[in-house]
Amino acid sequence: MPAPFIRIRYAIGARADRASGLEQTEMISIRKECPPDVAAREVLLDQAFGKNRRRKSSQRLRDGRLPADGLAFVAAEGTRIVGTARLWDIGCDNGEPALLLGPVAVAVDDRNRGIGTALVRHAIAAARRLGHRAVILVGDAPYYSRFGFSADATTSLRMPGPFERHRLLAVELVPGALTGARGPLRATGRAIPCRDLAASAA
Ligand SMILES: CC(C)(COP(=O)(O)OP(=O)(O)OC[C@H]1O[C@@H](n2cnc3c(N)ncnc32)[C@H](O)[C@@H]1OP(=O)(O)O)[C@@H](O)C(=O)NCCC(=O)NCCS
Repeated sequence: MPAPFIRIRYAIGARADRASGLEQTEMISIRKECPPDVAAREVLLDQAFGKNRRRKSSQRLRDGRLPADGLAFVAAEGTRIVGTARLWDIGCDNGEPALLLGPVAVAVDDRNRGIGTALVRHAIAAARRLGHRAVILVGDAPYYSRFGFSADATTSLRMPGPFERHRLLAVELVPGALTGARGPLRATGRAIPCRDLAASAA
């Protein structure tokens, strides 16, 4: 029977060991998100983006949908969730399939340890392995350019709501994947089953 999730261990950052006063490298696992991770992920996202985070246009591409199959990840240090990154199936007017990356967030006290970089690289590598052709996001180019994202391939694309054009970024996993992609982005992912929607509303 296959393992329930991929677990890849990274030695990320270094923290002072309070007992010895020495620096030691701690292990961060980047692994697929499991149902018990959801509550901690939501707290982390509230802290990173604030309570109004669901008003963002990118949320319109996630509402009522499940993440793309096999493409929801957490960074964990032991049992503590310290980062999250998910990818979502989207399309555009002329049917070019792509993934939306986000939200990506790292716990405030764990930033600048390389966790965000490890999460994004892991998510993109997994998307590539699964045969996806392009990843789109709304975010800061100074951060995401290190992963190959730029606004060059998104000039004919729009979000389904207000957005800043210079923050609509993409990376093609297959060269030319977004050539001819145009129009508003729309959600194409699997709908959340009704019973789960009812549970989350309760
Ligand atoms: C953006 C975020 C995910 C980065 O996570 P992280 O684990 O701190 O990132 P890393 O440790 O891998 O990288 C740190 C580097 O990124 C830079 N960086 C972080 N956020 C940045 C931003 N918004 N713009 C430009 N550079 C940024 C840091 O200055 C640092 O630079 P250095 O490598 O030159 O020192 C994290 O800061 C976060 O959760 N922010 C709040 C939520 C958010 O803005 N998410 C992204 C939009 S979806």
